Amino acid sequence: MSGTKARKLDHIRIVLDSHVEAGTTLLDDVYLVHNPLPEIDFGEVDTRTRFCGKTLDAPLMIVGMTGGHEVAEKINCMLAQAAAEHGIAMGVGSQRAALEDPSLAKTYSVARKCGGQELVLVANIGGAQLLEKGPAIGEQVVEMIEADALAVHLNVGQEIFQPEGDHRFKGLLKAIGELVEKLSVPVIVKETGHGMSYDAVYALRSVGVRFFDVAGSGGTSWILVEAYRHTGPPSMAARWFGVWGTPTALSIIEARWAAPDACIVASGGIRTGLDAVKALALGADLVGFGLPALEKLAEEGLGGLKNYIAALKFSIKAGLALTGARRVEELWEKPVVVQGRLRELASLKGIKLEYYQSIRGFIHDRCA
Ligand SMILES: Cc1cc2nc3c(=O)[nH]c(=O)nc-3n(C[C@H](O)[C@H](O)[C@H](O)COP(=O)(O)O)c2cc1C
Repeated sequence: MSGTKARKLDHIRIVLDSHVEAGTTLLDDVYLVHNPLPEIDFGEVDTRTRFCGKTLDAPLMIVGMTGGHEVAEKINCMLAQAAAEHGIAMGVGSQRAALEDPSLAKTYSVARKCGGQELVLVANIGGAQLLEKGPAIGEQVVEMIEADALAVHLNVGQEIFQPEGDHRFKGLLKAIGELVEKLSVPVIVKETGHGMSYDAVYALRSVGVRFFDVAGSGGTSWILVEAYRHTGPPSMAARWFGVWGTPTALSIIEARWAAPDACIVASGGIRTGLDAVKALALGADLVGFGLPALEKLAEEGLGGLKNYIAALKFSIKAGLALTGARRVEELWEKPVVVQGRLRELASLKGIKLEYYQSIRGFIHDRCA
């Protein structure tokens, strides 16, 4: 088995068997104002949204996690079935394994087969592969799975603490800019659980990136996953750095402040429907989740995952009605109270929270 293929299986085993979540999303510091007199009927609430040229039933996404192994092929099929049935988006994991061994392409393309043509499907490569192979790699992985968009993941934390990690990070901004220019579908730049910052989003927006997945800290920590994969000093250090990163709530605020016109997916530690509503109210366009999807599949099978997604969808509808909003766009006009550490950190970063309220929904249809 190739190193990349074995690592894919390792990752799934570790995230299901060990505690790999660390830190806090700071979503507890977000308070939404209850509206006891919403003057709308529940039936009027409409959660549909446009994403990458298609319409979703709700602004939700199963973020990219796996592929490159027979076990991953089964998982990708089930994730795609659940996502398609509920009209939400889905990403596959890094397609590096299939670039190294083309016979593994089917472990990713299975998502299109099982999810059908209506599914919004997102391809995935690492920044390291983009640097090594150049922008042509983009079209190759998009075609492999007939994707609607391509996620380029930034995982500096994981690469540093991974013994076999790639430690060359120079030149990536320029490479991403070239990819955006050449690729026929949107490029989503995503973190992997340690969060996007204002500076990174600003720099990426200036080279043409319009789609981001903040993947903030407070959920799956890739540095912590690496702590379980090996022993020795880097593993010990990985335990210390498990909580590293920008908490998801702060990351949403920083990203939106840096790019009011960008499509922002909020992921990293989103576990409940209330988390999802708070992330949307903060100004995210879509909400993503990773680990809970794998856990539901492992513990309760496909039915359990479908129920979980149904509960998230219902929560978004309920959250909109409870704040008096008919659509997510109206939620961005409702007050969002930012308190405690989140308020302090956002202020220290120079974000004017009074003004931030109106930035959230300044521009609509950002992900269309
Ligand atoms: C088992 C597993 C594998 C992952 N593999 C990838 C990957 O290949 N590419 C990627 O961009 N992100 C990958 N991620 C990161 C997720 O996309 C996401 O950013 C992160 O897990 C935070 O979300 P969560 O807290 O909801 O899990 C993976 C996550 C998990 C749990």
